[in-house]
Amino acid sequence: MNPTVLLSTAVAVASAAYAFKPKKKTELEAKSVAVPAPKSYLPLQLDTVVAYIYDMLMGKDELEMLLKDMKQYGNTINFKGLNNDFIVVTDPSSIQHILAKNQPNYEKGPYFKGIFHDFLGSGIFNADGDTWKAQRQIARPHFQTSEFKDAALINKHVDQLLVVIDKHIASKPDAPLEVQNLYCRFTLDEASEFLFGATVDALKNEQTEFSTAFNYAQSLTAWRFRIPYWKYILPRRKLMTEIKKLDDFVYKIIDDARERQAARAQEKTKDENEENSRHDNLLDHFLSQQNEEGFDNKYLRDMLLNFLLAGRDTTASLLSWTTWKLVQHPKVMEKLHQEILQVIGPDRVPGYDDIKKLKYQKQVINEVLRLCPPVPINPRESVEEDVLPNGYYVPAGVAVAYCVYATHRLPELWGEDALEFDPDRWGPERVGKIRPFMFVPFHAGPRICLGQNLAYTTAQLALTRLLQRYDIKASPGFEPQQLGDIVMFSRNGVEVLISHKRPQSEI
Ligand code: HEM
Repeated sequence: MNPTVLLSTAVAVASAAYAFKPKKKTELEAKSVAVPAPKSYLPLQLDTVVAYIYDMLMGKDELEMLLKDMKQYGNTINFKGLNNDFIVVTDPSSIQHILAKNQPNYEKGPYFKGIFHDFLGSGIFNADGDTWKAQRQIARPHFQTSEFKDAALINKHVDQLLVVIDKHIASKPDAPLEVQNLYCRFTLDEASEFLFGATVDALKNEQTEFSTAFNYAQSLTAWRFRIPYWKYILPRRKLMTEIKKLDDFVYKIIDDARERQAARAQEKTKDENEENSRHDNLLDHFLSQQNEEGFDNKYLRDMLLNFLLAGRDTTASLLSWTTWKLVQHPKVMEKLHQEILQVIGPDRVPGYDDIKKLKYQKQVINEVLRLCPPVPINPRESVEEDVLPNGYYVPAGVAVAYCVYATHRLPELWGEDALEFDPDRWGPERVGKIRPFMFVPFHAGPRICLGQNLAYTTAQLALTRLLQRYDIKASPGFEPQQLGDIVMFSRNGVEVLISHKRPQSEI
């Protein structure tokens, strides 16, 4: 058996003597219903914990494992392990309760913040209370300005994406192309420029030190979610070495930005309208918002890495699954292509206003976000004990996750064809049936995604230009293997056959 499994089991057994303490029920608990938990026959649910870790190491998809358990135990489940509760909710009213109505009671919490702390520090993604609020308040205007609406920045990186694809077609015209990795490099370049004002150039250089270190930090952090007592089991030294590489890169960018800011401050005396001037990137925007104390470099480093994590892989995941769904549904792809031809034409570079006219494209993207939500499951920690709208009891200080992946597939919400890819459900006749909190790929409530519009804009511009230029088809025999990580990717990428479209005159 894998040493990780053995070790986790050993630690679990060793902790058993300490962890097992029968507790008296609180008044609220006595009045409400306990969340159903999968059956377990050993103390501390050791059998289910070991079986779970084993399944994961064998490469089983956790999200599909969850759907299977839901069939047996219902839509709210407590995956208890080592006497720790991990409640998963999927019904819209419970999601609304956690994300909006009783949101202050469901924090990121100490356990999850501990998991992310080495990588993300106290950045927006990993903060609660005033620390979170202050960052969100400063960042929000940057996402509401027209910076990305003029689409120039995004289109610049799409240009580079097309260069890489053209090179592939020229050198290996019949070979499949793996696009997931390309999209990750594209969104890393775009997001880094949007956030830092300096691109990482991942499309030009497949393995940059920054992207390799970022990938490692992200994937090791994801393992911390899965391994009980990860602190004692997972290595930290290599993680810290990789994080140091990220820090070196980001601190240099911060130093440059401070120099720019100092130069601007001198200019300000010449131009009193500085308040109204536009900041090209989020870092400059933050520096412009400092009070006398200023922000220290660690604060800015945390801020930047958090936004990069939030924005990069999510959009790449969306583009990857969209490509996969389109090659599986050539009629949808054709309809999309026709819309692009009518609204934009065969080769005109689209702008922000153009893509907002692509109504069918938005339906397609929403349908991908429904079936393949980039953030498939999202945990919180309860502060006080609580009762969910469906009557289930939530103890204080436990993990409560909402599983978007499952909610978006429930037949009682989406109909018997819930698992079918059908962009027409977003058409004018049927869209009215989609109720609040049934579709939550971007979260909801006070912590709703700040980058939602940027994500749609990026995906729509990239998709438009890809379909203007290329014929994209399924690669025979290829099947993606879904991986329910922090961000939902395909374990083996997304392989497609790609070639230049023939000009309309030749068709
Ligand atoms: C398809 C693409 C995207 C999806 C599906 C997505 C989804 C989400 C989700 C589910 C959350 C909630 C996370 C949590 O609280 O645990 C979130 C938060 C956030 N997202 Fe996005 N996101 C996307 C793209 C972006 C982009 C491009 C950016 C910006 C560069 C961004 C910035 C953020 C930020 C800053 C937060 C934290 C908000 C807060 O806690 O107040 N996202 N996003």
